[in-house]
Amino acid sequence: MFRISRLDIQTLFGPVQLEKPISEWCMKIFRLLLAVAAVFVGSGFARFHNETKSAEDPKPIKAVMKEAMKSGLAKKVAGGEATDEEKMQVLNLLIDLVENEAPKGDETEWKMMAGTAMMNAAKVVVGREGAEEALGAAIDCKSCHDKFK
Ligand code: HEC
Repeated sequence: MFRISRLDIQTLFGPVQLEKPISEWCMKIFRLLLAVAAVFVGSGFARFHNETKSAEDPKPIKAVMKEAMKSGLAKKVAGGEATDEEKMQVLNLLIDLVENEAPKGDETEWKMMAGTAMMNAAKVVVGREGAEEALGAAIDCKSCHDKFK
C-alpha cells in the first residue's frame, strides 16, 4: 500500500508547517481539477456550438440529407440502435431541416412534414414510448422528395 504521510511531503518538498500546507495542497489539487473540468466542459460546449447553426442561418437541406439521411443516421435512430449522442445529432440536424425553406412545394406543408420528423426525433431524445417507430414513418424519403425536392 502506498500512503502519503506528512513526513513524505516534508521529505519531498522540504520542511513544512503541520496543518496549513496540507490544506493548501488540497486547494491546489482542487483548483487543478476545477480547471481540468472547465476545459472539458468548455471544449464540449464549443464543439456542440460549432455544429449548431443559428435560426437565421440553418445548415442547408443538402447537408442535412448527407449527414442525417444518406448516412443512415436517422434510420439508425429510428431503429432504436443509436447512442444518446447520435439521437441528439439527428434532432439537431432536423431542426436545421425545418428552418430551411423547401426548394419547391407548399411552404406550410413543408413545415408540417419536416416538423413532424423533428418532433419525433425530440420524442426519441426524451425517451417517449413508440417514438422510434413514429420517427421511422416521418423520414419516408420518397414521400417527402416527391413533394418538395
Ligand atoms: C422531410 C422531407 C425529406 C425527407 C423525409 C427526406 N428528404 Fe432527402 N431531400 C429533401 C429535400 C427537400 C431535398 C432537396 C434539397 C435541395 O435540392 O436543396 C432532398 C435531397 C436529398 C438528396 C440530394 C442531396 C444533394 O446533395 O443534392 C439526398 C441524397 C437525399 N435527399 C436523401 C434522403 C434519404 C436517403 C432520405 C430517407 C432516409 C431522405 N432524403 C428523406 C427532403 C427530404
